[in-house]
Amino acid sequence: MGTMSYAEGDVRTIEAEGNPARFARGWHCLGLADRFKDGKPHQIKVFGSELVVFADTKGELNVLDAYCRHMGGNLAHGTVKGDSIACPFHDWRWGGNGKCTDIPYARRVPPLARTRSWSTLERNGQLFVWHDPQGNPPPAHVTIPDIEGHGSPEWTPWQWNSVLVEGSHCRELVDNVVDMAHFFYVHFNTPRSFKNVFEGHIASQSMSFTPRKDKRTLDFGDDSVTQSDASYFGPAYMIDEFHADIGADEPLEAVLINCHYPVTSNSFVLQYGIIVKKMAGMSDEQAAALAKGFGDGTIATFEQDIVIWKNKTKIDNPLLCEEDGPVYQLRRWYEQFYVDVEDVSEDMIRRFEFEIDTSRAAAIWEKEMEDNLAAER
Ligand code: FES
Ligand SMILES: [Fe+2]
Repeated sequence: MGTMSYAEGDVRTIEAEGNPARFARGWHCLGLADRFKDGKPHQIKVFGSELVVFADTKGELNVLDAYCRHMGGNLAHGTVKGDSIACPFHDWRWGGNGKCTDIPYARRVPPLARTRSWSTLERNGQLFVWHDPQGNPPPAHVTIPDIEGHGSPEWTPWQWNSVLVEGSHCRELVDNVVDMAHFFYVHFNTPRSFKNVFEGHIASQSMSFTPRKDKRTLDFGDDSVTQSDASYFGPAYMIDEFHADIGADEPLEAVLINCHYPVTSNSFVLQYGIIVKKMAGMSDEQAAALAKGFGDGTIATFEQDIVIWKNKTKIDNPLLCEEDGPVYQLRRWYEQFYVDVEDVSEDMIRRFEFEIDTSRAAAIWEKEMEDNLAAER
C-alpha cells in the first residue's frame, strides 16, 4: 500500500452555493383538509413565515398570515367567530379575504385594515396553498389534478403521514425523480426500466422494479413486478400510481402522494399519503390492512432517504455515470419555480425525455443479490 498523490487540478471538487433565499412558486399541500375543519385555528410554519388556517361557516378553508396587523397578536391562538378569525389580543376580526370585518370596541374599522390572505385549493381531500414571491395569482393551467380513486368506495381512505426534515433543502427530495441507482441501494428495489419526461411544470418518472431478494422494504414476493408512474405537478406535489403484479388475478393498485412544503430554506415538512384499491373479495378491513402495510413500507422508504439527506452534503456539480438519470436537466426544470415568471427560460420548460438502459445495472445487481443470498446460506 502506498500513498498516491494527485495534482490539485485532477481532483474533482464539490461545488455548492447556499440554499436559495426564496421559496418555490407553486401549489403546496398543507395536509388533509379535514384536519383543519374542527372549528379551531391552526398555525402552520411555512415559507419562512407563520400562517393560520381556519374553516368558515360554509366549511371553506381560509389561510391568512398568522400575525395580526393591529399589534402583532397570534391569530392561531384566537377563536373562529362566524366567518372570521378573532385575535386573542384585542378581538379584531379578520375574514378569509384578509379584510378586517369588525373591531367590536371601535366606532369604525380603518378602511385600509387588510392582512395577507393566501389562495387556497381543496383537492383530493387535501388543502393546498399557492405561493408566489411576486404575488401573482395561480395561472389556470397550473393546477393539481383530481385523483380518480379518492373518495370512491372501491378505494381506501388516505393513510397519511408527515415528518419534519431539518438540515436539508427540499431539492434533495426532488432529485429522487431521476436517481435510478438509489432505488436499489437505498430502497431495496431493483429497477428494470426507468424513464423521465419533463415538460412545462410537470416532471415524470416511469419505473418498473422487482424487489431485492436479499433485502426488502415493500414485500410482495420475489416474482412481483411493480410499475410506478409518478409525476410532480409543480415543485412540491407528486402523484405516484402503482400497479403491482403480486401473483393474484388482478394487480394491486395504489396511489401514493409524495409532497412537501418548505418551513425554512433549510428544512421542510415531508408528507405522504396512500390509497389502495380494494381487490375482489376483499373486505374493508382487509383493504385497510393492505393500505396500512403499504403505508408502513412507504414510511420505511422515506426514512431510508432521510438518513441519506441528513448525512450528505449539498452538491451542485454531481459527477455522473451513464446509468445515472438526467440530474442536471431535472434541476434546470426545478429552477423555473425559483425565478420570476418572466425569467422562466425555454430550456426550463421544454419537453425533455430520457430513458436509462438499465439492463447492465440489473444484471450486475442480480449477481450481487445471488452472492449475498449464497453467503447467508
Ligand atoms: S393585536 Fe390583534 S387585535 Fe390587537
Ligand atoms: Fe428515495
